[in-house]
Amino acid sequence: MRKGRIAGIPAWKRGLLVAVIGLTAVGAAAGIRAREAEDGSAMAMGDASGEERQRSSGPQTKVQSAETKKIALTFDDGPHPRYTQKLLDGLKERGVKATFFLLGTNIEGNEEIIKRMAEEGHLIGNHTYYHVDITKLSQEEACREILDTSKQITAITGQPVEYIRPPFGNWDKELECEVMMLPIFWSVDTLDWTTKNTDQIVQKVVKNIEENDIILMHDSYDSTVLAALRIIDLLQADGYEFVTADELILE
Ligand code: NI
Repeated sequence: MRKGRIAGIPAWKRGLLVAVIGLTAVGAAAGIRAREAEDGSAMAMGDASGEERQRSSGPQTKVQSAETKKIALTFDDGPHPRYTQKLLDGLKERGVKATFFLLGTNIEGNEEIIKRMAEEGHLIGNHTYYHVDITKLSQEEACREILDTSKQITAITGQPVEYIRPPFGNWDKELECEVMMLPIFWSVDTLDWTTKNTDQIVQKVVKNIEENDIILMHDSYDSTVLAALRIIDLLQADGYEFVTADELILE
């Protein structure tokens, strides 16, 4: 029941998206929506296309399963000076790419961590500066929240920021800022910040996981980092491939 909730994504390419300035209705165009607010259980849908773009082409050690099942781990509210590094170490060991939606307030002092995220191939997105509900702000304030955060990230990574996870899952699709952002929601909310219980987080994800799921976690807790790495080990063994979230919402 989680699948097929996407309302048709135009065949835009990412490069094109960043080039377009001042367009509106980004959220609507992306056709993704949260069912409920962040930090409650929520649902969003990514790519519904069954086509697999990347197939392993390594030596034929065993019969390949028909298709790779892709899922994405996403981490909000970071970076955290300690736990994000630990997470990055674990992701690197496992060859996994993840997505980080950063808070502007957590950028200063964590520049090296952010640079490392980019260098190691993770997707870096925007989570506003002060973790605000975009829909409760004036357009000017909302844009400042987004643009200030993106600017800081870009100053560190040298790369444009194209994606946003709006706090609480509240996105104003009429918002017109100088730079267009695509919202990325989620389909599995681990509620990691409420339980801080590694086993519970792991179970919640592993029991209910489906192809193309986008999993919401927070890299501000040791319990989450441990859970994320265990989830990777369990699901990789089950044939899942971890990709950055943009791969599940575009094309
Ligand atoms: Ni958040």
